[in-house]
Amino acid sequence: MESSDYHQDLALLEWQIELGALEAIGDLPVNRYEVPAAVEKPKAAAPATPAGVPVPQQAKVDAVAIAEQAAAAAGTLEELRAAMAAFEHCDLKKGARNLVFSDGIPGARVMLVGEAPGRDEDRAGKPFVGRAGQLLDRMLAAIDMGRDHAEAPVYITNVLPWRPPQNRDPKPEEIAMMKPFLLRHIALAKPQVLVIVGNWSCQALLGKRGITRLRGAWTEAGGVPALPMFHPAYLLRSPEFKREAWADLLSLKAKLANG
Ligand code: URA
Repeated sequence: MESSDYHQDLALLEWQIELGALEAIGDLPVNRYEVPAAVEKPKAAAPATPAGVPVPQQAKVDAVAIAEQAAAAAGTLEELRAAMAAFEHCDLKKGARNLVFSDGIPGARVMLVGEAPGRDEDRAGKPFVGRAGQLLDRMLAAIDMGRDHAEAPVYITNVLPWRPPQNRDPKPEEIAMMKPFLLRHIALAKPQVLVIVGNWSCQALLGKRGITRLRGAWTEAGGVPALPMFHPAYLLRSPEFKREAWADLLSLKAKLANG
């Protein structure tokens, strides 16, 4: 493959996998039975400091502390977006096409927090634009709300702003380093109510999973009343749980009517 463009290579690979390719065959034969020649370990370099003086250790980067500082320094949503775009400590960024920051109306009474972008969101740079997002839009429309609704808009973001490869589950360290940005996002968007969409969002904001148990029970996250709900991708796979999702939407509506 004569290409140096990462995304083009990735798209080609995904296309081949969609076509059913199971193996990658190289140009040169490889004898996998051959015992590799022993590789001599490089000898540890002698410390350059005099005996007794501790050798300085290479400082380990504390990505969470860096994220906390960067998030705290952001005074507006635009500054927060820029701080996240400049954050270089999350490997997901390397494989993503776009930072997925938010959609909808900042300052809306309701802020939804999803999990992470999928392929469609990665391409569009917006959260919840794929099949799950379309179901989410229909669910919101059923209670007369929506991301562009004139009277009852919502604001939408995700725990992770970059797509995990192959849509794998987020890693605890990824959630930990992006959580300061998420909390700052909530503080700057100032919603009256949060909707925590799906299990990984519960993990990030409530420190626990188990959406079947958690959903429908009002709690608090980031200092804001919060309602965990089933993820629309889960409802696409298990439509029998739409009844519970409808009850939660009505609970959201009632909360807003009383608040
Ligand atoms: N699932 C999510 O949790 N967020 C998105 O943006 C898309 C799918």
